[in-house]
Amino acid sequence: VRERTFSIIKPDAVKQAHIGAIYHQIESAGLRIVAAKMLHLSKAQAEGFYGEHEGKPFYDALIEFMTQGPIMVQVLEGENAIEVYRNLMGATDPSQAEAGTLRANYGSGMPANATHGSDSAEAVSREIAFFFSDDEIIG
Ligand code: CMP
Repeated sequence: VRERTFSIIKPDAVKQAHIGAIYHQIESAGLRIVAAKMLHLSKAQAEGFYGEHEGKPFYDALIEFMTQGPIMVQVLEGENAIEVYRNLMGATDPSQAEAGTLRANYGSGMPANATHGSDSAEAVSREIAFFFSDDEIIG
């Protein structure tokens, strides 16, 4: 099924100039980038986006990390985009991620794991709406 997913290139990967390499892997996997922008999250924005993790031991470090520099946010589209992009990213912890995946290639640890991707259709809807209006997404 052709579907959309939501992707973040996190501050560690933007700072290390890996945007182009990550876009190349995304496009090579058959996913189209149908919306994109760079932004520097405020603390309130990061807390809003990662609200489900509030109270977890890594939450403060995650918010600190996600606000330390600019990120790229994207909407990706393609066949089974949610699963294809999650497989492309690899395991959440870069040290556990399969060789060649985005997190193995560009992540350095936790929370600095280079990329985020939605984990369900419900998350896709919420996460896309958090960053994009409908007229910013190419149909
Ligand atoms: P992400 O896919 O964006 O979802 C939540 C993020 O929290 C995750 O990627 C990591 O960046 C971070 N994270 C998850 N678990 C841990 C952990 N145990 N320690 C530190 N950071 C974590």
